Amino acid sequence: MALHVSGGIALVKVPELITRLRREGAEVRVAMTPTATALISPTTLQALSGQPVAWRLPTPRGGRRSAEEAAPGHGMAHLQLASWAELQLVAPATASTLARLALGLADDVVSATLLASPAPLLLAPAMETGMWRAAATQANLATLRGRGASVVGPVSGRLASGREGEGRMAEPGEILEAALALLSPAGPMRGWEVLVTAGGTREPIDPVRFLGNRSSGRMGLRLAAEAARRGALVRLVSTVPQPDLPEGVELIPVETGEEMLRACLRLLPRARLLLMAAAVADYRLERPSERKLHRSEAPELELRLVANVDVLAELSRARPRDCLVVGFAAETEDVRRRGEEKLRRKGCDLLVANQVGGERSAMGGDHAAATLLATDGRVTELAWEPKAEIAARILDEAERLAARVRPAAPD
Ligand code: CTP
Repeated sequence: MALHVSGGIALVKVPELITRLRREGAEVRVAMTPTATALISPTTLQALSGQPVAWRLPTPRGGRRSAEEAAPGHGMAHLQLASWAELQLVAPATASTLARLALGLADDVVSATLLASPAPLLLAPAMETGMWRAAATQANLATLRGRGASVVGPVSGRLASGREGEGRMAEPGEILEAALALLSPAGPMRGWEVLVTAGGTREPIDPVRFLGNRSSGRMGLRLAAEAARRGALVRLVSTVPQPDLPEGVELIPVETGEEMLRACLRLLPRARLLLMAAAVADYRLERPSERKLHRSEAPELELRLVANVDVLAELSRARPRDCLVVGFAAETEDVRRRGEEKLRRKGCDLLVANQVGGERSAMGGDHAAATLLATDGRVTELAWEPKAEIAARILDEAERLAARVRPAAPD
């Protein structure tokens, strides 16, 4: 892949990024903007990457040329880099580099390469908070996203100025994961990170007993498998063990609603889609016992329950701007009306309303009937079908909604 380095102080993390990318087996060729070369020497990055570094466009005709520039083919380095790389990563991406790319300039080796490249583009912005929040930067970013670019970070933390705020470049590990996601198998969800929750939560009564429900975790597993099949990098936060995990799905085991919320909040900043298929217990014990309760000690037992955390509502509030949220509702009656009410109350983009109880119950088996309610008013009725089929229809709807919210590319 090509790694484009522009001139922000965040480039102190570039050596670590190169090392980690190479450890993952990636061949990394570096290109640098003129400002970046003033902050770190191309020779250093050449030594770390083990490849020549591109940092100058050919000198205009008539100008003085070094022996290296006069060599045959030298002027084509940026075109070779443009077509060679299967991924173009810009880290750090400064405000002025984002502006150059949005405008389509080609006045340094980085912008010229990226203008000519058909490969997916991943941007890791880094700048002061004011520059990051500036309308111009956000508009440039929206333009680049509209053309299909992916963005990782920035995060909040200490900035070059010494102040705290939003604009710090994502950590190398996070950039690495986003890059690997983009290199995952082709498919309509290539480059997406998808977060799926599955199973019923287990709220402890004592160290051996819990409050639970009938959820099998199958719907979540089917969704995870289908998203992976479409090229997404999938995290399955599940309360039930999932022994036959499909390729491209990472399992994160949890037990309680609180644990599920914590695990999801950690992964949410990078997620493009959240599928909240878990059946989170609505109540938990106010004070679970630390030791096993014995019947011989108390013939009767009263449990005091309090409202559990609403994982979906919390995640809806905390989600990044371009993350779609899909909620689920299990209802015994009035499925459509209650579903519509939950769509609004939980701040989802899509709500999957399932009938439970009775002969055709969505809970427990591998079939379900569902009504998909989208915020744009589209309603899809799915009769009794295998959950794998329902998962595919849910992801079709998610893709449709993602295409709708994405800013239109300028003409
Ligand atoms: N949900 C959640 N946290 C809870 C309860 C539910 O995240 N404590 C999520 C479920 O994962 C599901 C959606 O919210 O995606 C709807 O769940 P449901 O149990 O049907 O809704 P409730 O919030 O429990 O509403 P009510 O009790 O009024 O039916």
